[in-house]
Amino acid sequence: MNDTEKSRPCFTDKMLLELARDLRKVAHAPYSNFSVGAACRAESGTAYFGCNVENSSYPVGTCAERVAVGAAIAHGEKKITTIAIAGGNRDEGPAGNLVPCGMCLQFLSEFMEKDGVVFIADGSDGFKEYTLGELLPHAFRLEE
Ligand code: THU
Repeated sequence: MNDTEKSRPCFTDKMLLELARDLRKVAHAPYSNFSVGAACRAESGTAYFGCNVENSSYPVGTCAERVAVGAAIAHGEKKITTIAIAGGNRDEGPAGNLVPCGMCLQFLSEFMEKDGVVFIADGSDGFKEYTLGELLPHAFRLEE
């Protein structure tokens, strides 16, 4: 847990990773067959969830990360401190080499500091850990 989090209903990092793995089961990914789950923790300590939601008009579909963070913001959260992501081919375990796409990194940068944590679940109960700043060192900003 990061210093800025207030320790109320607390979802541990391990819980976020497990939830991200589980959320793959509800992904709507009939076009790519690539299912992704995402569980993020906001400053309040509460967690919010997402999965990828594809559409027959392909560009209309959205990634799991943006669904999870959008849910947090819709619940009044202002800052996301951690996000766990699990994604891979539908019938396989999570691909440990996944990183959020560029659009999601920019989306995350609106609500996460550079030291915000991004966990990527792998196929054997492990994970990789990055900071958002490592994955997106130079986010677009209208003003500094
Ligand atoms: N996808 C995500 O949900 N998150 C990522 O980090 C990468 C890609 C989704 C989009 C699409 O539904 C499918 O995975 C294949 O690109």
